[in-house]
Amino acid sequence: MAEEPGRVLKPGRVLKPINSSSDTDVLQSVKPGVVLTQAKENTSDASPPVRKEWSLRDFDIGRPLGKGKFGNVYLAREKTTKYVVAIKVLFKSQLQKAGVEHQLRREIEIQSHLSHPHILRLFQYFQDKTRVYLVLEYAPKGELYKELMKNTRFDERRTATYMYQMTSALKYCHSKKVIHRDIKPENLLLGLTGDLKIADFGWSVHAPSSRRTTLCGTLDYLPPEMIEGKLHDEKVDIWSLGVLCYEFLVGKPPFEAESNADTYRRITKVDLQFPRHVSEPAKNLVSQLLKHDPNQRLSLDKVLEHPWIKENRLPSTS
Ligand code: ADE
Repeated sequence: MAEEPGRVLKPGRVLKPINSSSDTDVLQSVKPGVVLTQAKENTSDASPPVRKEWSLRDFDIGRPLGKGKFGNVYLAREKTTKYVVAIKVLFKSQLQKAGVEHQLRREIEIQSHLSHPHILRLFQYFQDKTRVYLVLEYAPKGELYKELMKNTRFDERRTATYMYQMTSALKYCHSKKVIHRDIKPENLLLGLTGDLKIADFGWSVHAPSSRRTTLCGTLDYLPPEMIEGKLHDEKVDIWSLGVLCYEFLVGKPPFEAESNADTYRRITKVDLQFPRHVSEPAKNLVSQLLKHDPNQRLSLDKVLEHPWIKENRLPSTS
């Protein structure tokens, strides 16, 4: 499929469960998701709007956009409307083997109900016998961590701009008691104008929460209370925002170490050091986010008002 600019897929307003016709229904108890309305909505009082069940046959599939642990993401275009989207394909067998079906259910339930310029939209989901498909907003500038690798680190203007966008998206999530819990460059995408989009709500929950799923992968972004398995709330995202800001400015996360045990120690001690090139006001912001006591962390409102953010961020393009 040629990558021509497509219209942005608009979600329908109506909630409807998908038809689960599969043997292994990993989505059994997912609450109704947002359903796309393909045909023009019929607004007359007499007949209800046209709704439909979606399947892979409704899409032309294009190039792979990214690889995930449980499947890949592909560029796709809805055949009738020519809307361009990204489709995340997840293998049920792999989800079951890892015991993360509940996380997928939560991801769908939470992400499909969020609508914010800096949060990737989840428009729809459907499944067949072996796979689950998530129909997502397409983020044309791709994965942010690749940009970070290409540039090694970002300058203070670019970092402050991303921080402002992240903070406004997290404020929106927290207002709905949703905590993301997995903020890191790998889970961020870039829209057409280079604006940031939070993606991957696989670890998200409603606050307060305790962690029951085993942690895997890097500890770098986890706050002390989550590593220690304590009850935690939305302030975990404020810690991760501090780690993210540091990684954008420096090119590596603040508590990086040779082993997980060493990273753990550095996190619990808040062993924070900055290279000389980081400005005092930027250090001030990061230090106020990376407080061991969750209640001492700067509020999201105060992040938006922080002088370094106000002076450095570029005006919004979205
Ligand atoms: N890579 C992974 N997901 C993507 C998306 N939704 N848009 C663009 N690139 C992606």
